[in-house]
Amino acid sequence: MLRLEGIDAGYDGTQILWDIALEAKRGQMTVIIGPNGAGKSSILKVVTGLLPPTGGRVFFDDEDITEVPAYERPDLGIAACPEGRRLFPQLTAEANLRLGAYTLRARRHADDRLAQVYALFPGIRPRATTKALRLSGGEQQMVAIGRALMASPEILVLDEPSLGLAPKVVTEIFETVHRLRLEGLSVLMVEQNAYQALRIADYGYVVQGGRVLRSGPPGELMDLEELRKAYFAIS
Ligand SMILES: Nc1ncnc2c1ncn2[C@@H]1O[C@H](COP(=O)(O)OP(=O)(O)O)[C@@H](O)[C@H]1O
Ligand SMILES: [Mg+2]
Repeated sequence: MLRLEGIDAGYDGTQILWDIALEAKRGQMTVIIGPNGAGKSSILKVVTGLLPPTGGRVFFDDEDITEVPAYERPDLGIAACPEGRRLFPQLTAEANLRLGAYTLRARRHADDRLAQVYALFPGIRPRATTKALRLSGGEQQMVAIGRALMASPEILVLDEPSLGLAPKVVTEIFETVHRLRLEGLSVLMVEQNAYQALRIADYGYVVQGGRVLRSGPPGELMDLEELRKAYFAIS
């Protein structure tokens, strides 16, 4: 459904991504893992249109969307939850959620979607009128994922949803994302928490130094020597 072909990209003339080939299949959970600075967030920025590639193409349902600007991609069905959540701190949890439904495709169904998001994260319903800055890290992450879901995406793009959260909350977030995938949503997720992410993935990519080092079903990747090296810095 979503395909990157030969993607080169970088910042201010410095190339960061090299010949990235990646596919996220419909109804599957695709996970990108790799150490800090590997280029994982940059790959997601190419997917969401925030980082225009200098080479290669991006396809969504076989349509070339390389030139589609970032603000039009949610209307195609690509909704992202960025690294670090990026909520509006002074707005309430519910106002932040409703902002996710700004697209034409989502606006009409906003109330239904909101009910679904509260059903998915029952813990945030009682926090609806609380300002985002007063929410716990876990609650903020749930609102951030909920906000992306408000856009009625066909593919949910998540950048390190577990970052900085307590282990119990991490498990809860992963379980919820897994449930979304079981309900049929396609998910593309970046994680540093490699093993926990691979456990719920259908397919994984290991990225290092801006290149895809390996890809395959989770069972294959978990045994990889390169993966252990990348994570535990054994040389
Ligand atoms: N906005 C930016 N401007 C310049 N360099 C950046 C920017 N964002 C990321 N980089 C650099 O690109 C490389 C990959 O970063 P990133 O994609 O954020 O990696 P990851 O998400 O895997 O930690 C890093 O060397 C980082 O310093
Ligand atoms: Mg990152």
